[in-house]
Amino acid sequence: MHWSSLASLALATPTAALLRFGCAQLVVERLDPLVNPGVNPSPHLHQIIGGNAFRVSMDPKIDIGETATCTTCQFSEDFSNYWTAVMFFKAKNGTVHRVPQIPNVGFEGTNAGMTVYYMQDGLANYQQTSKVTAFKPGFRMLIGEASYRTKNEAARFRQITYTCLQTPGTRFPETMNFPTKPCPAGIMANVRFPTCWDGQNLDSPDHMSHMSYPESGTFESGGPCPASHPVRVPQLMYETIWNTSAWNNKEDWPETGQPFVWSMNDTTGFGSHGDYVFGWKGDALQRAMDSPCYVNCPTLKTQSISTMNQCSVPVTVDETTDGWLPDIPGMPSGQ
Ligand SMILES: *[C@@H]1O[C@H](CO)[C@@H](O)[C@H](O)[C@H]1NC(C)=O
Ligand SMILES: *[C@@H]1O[C@H](CO)[C@@H](O)[C@H](O)[C@H]1NC(C)=O
Ligand SMILES: *[C@@H]1O[C@H](CO)[C@@H](O)[C@H](O)[C@H]1NC(C)=O
Repeated sequence: MHWSSLASLALATPTAALLRFGCAQLVVERLDPLVNPGVNPSPHLHQIIGGNAFRVSMDPKIDIGETATCTTCQFSEDFSNYWTAVMFFKAKNGTVHRVPQIPNVGFEGTNAGMTVYYMQDGLANYQQTSKVTAFKPGFRMLIGEASYRTKNEAARFRQITYTCLQTPGTRFPETMNFPTKPCPAGIMANVRFPTCWDGQNLDSPDHMSHMSYPESGTFESGGPCPASHPVRVPQLMYETIWNTSAWNNKEDWPETGQPFVWSMNDTTGFGSHGDYVFGWKGDALQRAMDSPCYVNCPTLKTQSISTMNQCSVPVTVDETTDGWLPDIPGMPSGQ
């Protein structure tokens, strides 16, 4: 369904909160303070959005909602960090080029980045009335597994998908693997996180087991949380649009299939993953989720796209990630 039809329906019934907002690029580099804290460079390249407290190590005892001084997100009280892998095009001659990111319709002018959602109910439920508990300072989570290369492995996760954009408004079908045909308006990578929290742990050794999917049904169908993870949290979702248009000519594609590859050297798409470090200031997220706001959220402070684009952190990893490269950073082809 096209977003604008959701938004216009929503205006008729502004009952509760669905946050949908753009965030510009903060930095693109090989760091992963969640999975590889202190490791510079981390194994694979990430694209990161959000607050400027992003570092190679992020102590969960430090509330980034209080220490960050700017954010690339439209809601200026959101100093969280959000990141995913980076998509590359691999040419027939073996060299690679980072695929540029573009914003969703309505967020034109945003420098790369992603669209972020916090939902109380599934996207198609315009009411958004279910109660959710906001994440707490120090909370973080990961969904997806960078090493997965098969559908059987990836089936462990729900709703880490791709939309082959025929137009910028295409929203279905979604596939678990990379699209196999050229996508005229780009490839949208969708990452939805689990929605049930154990209520105790801000993190866990695998960064996932403090979270769970509903016990039966789905978040979208209103499925209940299991007793082990009883606290219903907002569904966090990322949409990242990779502008593949420059490489949609099948003559440039390898004989073996499609030419796009994630930064962890994944040509299947099953290794897609998203990371989250909560950093909303004070009670801003809970306040928003408890308020009648649908996309436009008067309870939250906003900033202009040009201000979002100005926030960044210096690159600390000494390597080139732009232009034609012999290899994906950290992935030597061994020639
Ligand atoms: C490899 O192929 C790409 C895409 O055709 C081209 O732009 C690039 O210059 C080539 N690089 C080399 C080293 O031949
Ligand atoms: C996507 O890439 C194509 C090819 O490089 C370019 O012409 C187009 O302007 C890009 N789209 C956006 C929205 O930036
Ligand atoms: C990356 O994957 C290709 C096959 O798709 C393989 O030939 C290459 O050895 C891999 N590189 C690394 C560093 O794993």
